[in-house]
Amino acid sequence: MQPLFSHGDWRTPGKPSEVTNPYDGAVIDTVPTADAAEVDAALATLTDGAKAMRAMNPRDRAAILFHASDAIAANPEEWGRRICAEGGKPIGEAVGEANRAVETLRLSAIEAERLGGEVVPIDAAPNGAGKLAFTRRVPCGVVAAITPFNFPLNLVCHKVGPAIAAGNAVLLKPAGVTPLSALALTRLLLECGLPEQAITCLTGPGGELGEAICGDPRVRKITFTGSDAVGAKIIATAGVKKVTLELGSNCPAVVFADADLPATASLLAKQATANAGQVCISLQRVLVERSAHAEFRDLLVEAFSQLKTGDPADEATDVGPLIRRSDAERVEQWLNEAVEAGATRVCGGERDGSLLTPALLDGVEPGMKAYDEELFGPACGLRSFETEEEAAAMANDTRYGLAAGVYTRDLSRMVRLSESIDAGVLNFGPGSGGGGPQYRADLMPYGGLGSSGLGKEGPRYAVEEMTETKCVVIHP
Ligand code: SIN
Repeated sequence: MQPLFSHGDWRTPGKPSEVTNPYDGAVIDTVPTADAAEVDAALATLTDGAKAMRAMNPRDRAAILFHASDAIAANPEEWGRRICAEGGKPIGEAVGEANRAVETLRLSAIEAERLGGEVVPIDAAPNGAGKLAFTRRVPCGVVAAITPFNFPLNLVCHKVGPAIAAGNAVLLKPAGVTPLSALALTRLLLECGLPEQAITCLTGPGGELGEAICGDPRVRKITFTGSDAVGAKIIATAGVKKVTLELGSNCPAVVFADADLPATASLLAKQATANAGQVCISLQRVLVERSAHAEFRDLLVEAFSQLKTGDPADEATDVGPLIRRSDAERVEQWLNEAVEAGATRVCGGERDGSLLTPALLDGVEPGMKAYDEELFGPACGLRSFETEEEAAAMANDTRYGLAAGVYTRDLSRMVRLSESIDAGVLNFGPGSGGGGPQYRADLMPYGGLGSSGLGKEGPRYAVEEMTETKCVVIHP
């Protein structure tokens, strides 16, 4: 059994909970099941840890993160194999995630040394003459980081890295099905000098544990990635504390007839199927100009047919399993429901256990779950538009707004659509240069509009959200 780390020690409370490989169901490890009492004890220690972190020199906080980044960089394959085994992510993508974690920790370390305030022009106020005012940023205290299964290392780094950089203690609760990368990262950070009272990693299913964490007033900041349903529960439970929510989406790509259609099709096939579509910015709705619809559909079918579905540990695999068989069954059902409601299944959608071959639907419309809700599976649907205005209206016809892509060679159109399409991240280009809704560089501000969430990630922005601002006025 892998112990969890809480109140300064590696411990094994509760019943062992199995961690299984989503591809073949093999048990790869067991972890303890923490409960509300464990949260209570952990928070007592973390409250002291927060004081120690606040007192620590920012250079020392940066050094911990630089060392951890270097250690992952020395062996990304080992971290990638762990991600692949617990999350079912194809090995090439999994090693890519480990390399992104190297960058996320490095960027967080840099932010530790840049954390400052600003001069407030107080003398412009009627009662401000002759005074000096400035802001200081101070850590929130204890940050709860509740992380998802789909990036079990890098999305943990996106929360834990900035929290440490800003001088907080961290209560980490990784997804119940993928705790191993988070435990390994906790061990590494301790080896790199993070004080023992400054981190806790609690394993086991969410539910009771999540409520105990989010409802406790000793937690001053919650940062969560997951579904909008759970995000809403967190808001209801949190009380008065800061919250960042990175929630789901049903991302659109708008494809104009003047785009590089073959390049765009091969890019979009990957954007809909990476990590079996289990990415918050996975492409789900392909809005294509009517004059190019038939040609683009054929190009997409060709691109989908080249993707290999199977064992994620095999270097040749493009599409691995969904995280649970029940998720593959749900996606299959949503695709079937769309077909019953009038869409055409052009290719894919065959299920074998937790594997699902990449599926393309044609003629999707509002009212279908595969169009309206977050599908989180290796599939997307096509819909036609006539005008640019209609394309923007279709892209925006959703409660979500995390990311969108637009493919065209027309720069003026890109500028207009950057105004009219509402999403936290917009990626525009002709298709041959990459881009699309699933493009993310780890330093970007990343976060959605509407039901896609609150606040931004990306180390620079996350550090801001994990600090409080004090305004100091000197009256000489
Ligand atoms: C997510 O699924 O929320 C993160 C996507 C990414 O970091 O690429």
